[in-house]
Amino acid sequence: MDQSETIATPGETNLLPEELNEEIFRLKKELNAVILAHYYQESEIQDLADFIGDSLELSRKASQTDADVIVFAGVHFMAETAKILSPDKTVLLPDLEAGCSLADSAPADLFRHYRLQHPDHLSLTYINCTAEVKALSDIIVTSSSAERILRELPEDIPVLFAPDRNLGQYLQRVTGRDMLLWQGTCLVHEQFSERKIFALRNEHPEAKLIAHPECEEVILDQADFVGSTSALLKFTQTDPSPAFIVATEPGIIHQMEKASPNKLFIPAPPDSSCACNECPYMKLNTREKLYLCMRDRKPEITMDESLRRRALAPLQRMLDLTSDSSTNIHSLLEEIRLPFTG
Ligand code: 13P
Ligand code: SF4
Repeated sequence: MDQSETIATPGETNLLPEELNEEIFRLKKELNAVILAHYYQESEIQDLADFIGDSLELSRKASQTDADVIVFAGVHFMAETAKILSPDKTVLLPDLEAGCSLADSAPADLFRHYRLQHPDHLSLTYINCTAEVKALSDIIVTSSSAERILRELPEDIPVLFAPDRNLGQYLQRVTGRDMLLWQGTCLVHEQFSERKIFALRNEHPEAKLIAHPECEEVILDQADFVGSTSALLKFTQTDPSPAFIVATEPGIIHQMEKASPNKLFIPAPPDSSCACNECPYMKLNTREKLYLCMRDRKPEITMDESLRRRALAPLQRMLDLTSDSSTNIHSLLEEIRLPFTG
């Protein structure tokens, strides 16, 4: 197609959905690009992706791809993570405004101050944070790797967990390990209504409640299964229940329905009548913006090299600790300099 025939402004092309799909496939070949998508993306984007995964799987993919361009259908901290891991690749994000309430809750200057107040604490930091906060952290974790990594840390090391207090509290409960908790929350996962979920369970006694650990304790306490997005998806495939109430962003239901077409998936309702169980940041990306970012090679994620190197170290520790070649935690701990001096 001759692009000059198409009058296109951001978010507004003349292309029909099928034409957008064709153009995206053409550009993927032309750019030697890979499209990575998180489960919370809208279903049309998931259907165009080369790989869909949770935060850990997407990070691993981004570190291993041989594509020249990574098109990241997710939020800013995820695309930034891809750039940290693959600095020689061009990393594109369909909408640069796609942020995250957890990342916003931890500005780097406040986080540095907090660490200086607790210099002997090792910082186990959730991947939902900026590159600057990663650079101030000791080990990065995701919802699928946090418990495993925390359990490996020797008991005598005091730990500080940021920025998600719900995930931190959940980890404390399942491991019995005390941690200092930063008080951030995810604006999607803190919305679920205990009362409405209770009513749904009465209406569907055959349904299991499955929840992401970013949910509040009252929801997690009732859940039949708690796990990362990938773990929730897997659970619905292996558990024999015919129905599930899904307490996480409903974008993941697309893959659940594809994998188990005969099962019923009910999105857990938020407290108010709005659609605020949808992540407003994830949903900023559209198929049209995906096309435009590939066509225009922007918005592109760029990063200062010294920041990238500092952010890489704690991220690489997570990848090493969760890889098949079992890395010894003690050798990693030798690299971590405590007390923290800023
Ligand atoms: P996971 O993909 O690790 O389950 O995290 C969910 C999330 O909130 C991503 O922003
Ligand atoms: Fe951030 Fe929550 Fe959206 Fe995930 S769902 S990107 S944690 S705001």
